[in-house]
Amino acid sequence: MLGNFSYSNPTKLYFGEDSLNYLNKELPKYGPNVLLVYGGGSIKKNGIYDQVVEILKSNGKVIFDDAGVMPNPTVQKLYEGCELAKENNVDLILAVGGGSVCDYAKAVSVSAWCEEDPWEKYYLRMEDVDNRIIPVGSVLTMVGTGSEMNGGAVISDPVNKLKIGHVFGDNVFPKFSILNPVYTFSVPQYQMVAGFFDIMSHILEQYFSGEDDNTSDYISEGLLRSLIHSSRIALENPGDYEARSNIMWTATWALNTLIAKGKTSDWMVHMIGQSVGAYTDAAHGMTLSAVSMAYYRHIMPFGLAKFKKYAVNVWNVDFAGKADEQIAAEGLDRMAAWMKEMGLVMNLRKLGVTEEMLDGIAKGSPAMKGGYRVLSCDEIIEILKQSM
Ligand code: NZQ
Ligand code: ZN
Repeated sequence: MLGNFSYSNPTKLYFGEDSLNYLNKELPKYGPNVLLVYGGGSIKKNGIYDQVVEILKSNGKVIFDDAGVMPNPTVQKLYEGCELAKENNVDLILAVGGGSVCDYAKAVSVSAWCEEDPWEKYYLRMEDVDNRIIPVGSVLTMVGTGSEMNGGAVISDPVNKLKIGHVFGDNVFPKFSILNPVYTFSVPQYQMVAGFFDIMSHILEQYFSGEDDNTSDYISEGLLRSLIHSSRIALENPGDYEARSNIMWTATWALNTLIAKGKTSDWMVHMIGQSVGAYTDAAHGMTLSAVSMAYYRHIMPFGLAKFKKYAVNVWNVDFAGKADEQIAAEGLDRMAAWMKEMGLVMNLRKLGVTEEMLDGIAKGSPAMKGGYRVLSCDEIIEILKQSM
């Protein structure tokens, strides 16, 4: 491990079947006005909304509903949330939902009291926050993004076909997050497996970088093995608590800054995937699965030693008597086979991408410098073509 770094993570987690009770412990720390942020209504169907509202009321909170946060939340919705938060002088933003709801809550938390246009300041100019930040707490209902324990807040501008993530510092991380695996049981299968791939992708984006012998990589391999094992059980039986809880915990650790320690990190799959998302509004995990195999096959020769380690330590490829290239390629074949088994989308056409979009998608995918290869625009187009 050759890097220099500092490490802390301020988010308090409550995990398990009784975790919602701990909302009672957190709420007294904040003033009375709570902005209750949620999505398109799943929490009303599965009863989580009623449970949360009861606890808020019994703690004497005044609730302001901010419903209808869409998957891939938009800048227009962000402006609405800012108005609500400001008008009602909100003391706490409680996000109840998946990554979109958590991301949106963080975006509102830094934007409500921002005197400039928050989209321009945080997303186009990538500036830091220098105004009042409203604290955020979350009750997570869908796993994948890690938003429950990180500073990421991805917002889309559908008019200009931009989807941009700002990774804020730990002053913006949720103050607390409640993780009850049972809440994820009602997630539709398509979203569930998209989440599985998002977790895998987060780990791989960090794993496929650097040449040193790094503890972060060993942790990553363990997380990947746990994910692969539990994903198969959950696919067969979505109500398997043990599998869903392992996946929930893995998702949090996949993107809460720990496994990036001492690493440069790649994030190229996410750059391409987000640009695909800006053009299609597809589920985030599926935008990643559609381009990953073409991307990893393309960069494999440039990071061969790590791809070999991945094949052997994660996918149990038998390496005796084989050349490194063959071992590494067999690892990627096993990854592709697992993706098919999960029912992941593995080509862009299925997400609605057309040939005419490829140039624009490539232009919206900044070339990252932390992985094994800095891609040219032509290489990105080639990867997109292979993913069609
Ligand atoms: O809106 P509702 O009705 O709640 O339905 C949601 C939504 O349609 C549904 N859902 C969530 N929990 C459910 C449920 N349905 C039934 N039962 C439940 N318990 O699932 C659908 C998708 O939800 P969403 O929050 O959009 O999914 P996800 O968690 O994958 O979040 C995706 C967003 O997070 C961003 C993505 O770009 C995308 O905008 N990301 C955030 C990151 C971060 N903060 O670090 C990193 C990621 O790489 C990612 O970019
Ligand atoms: Zn992701």
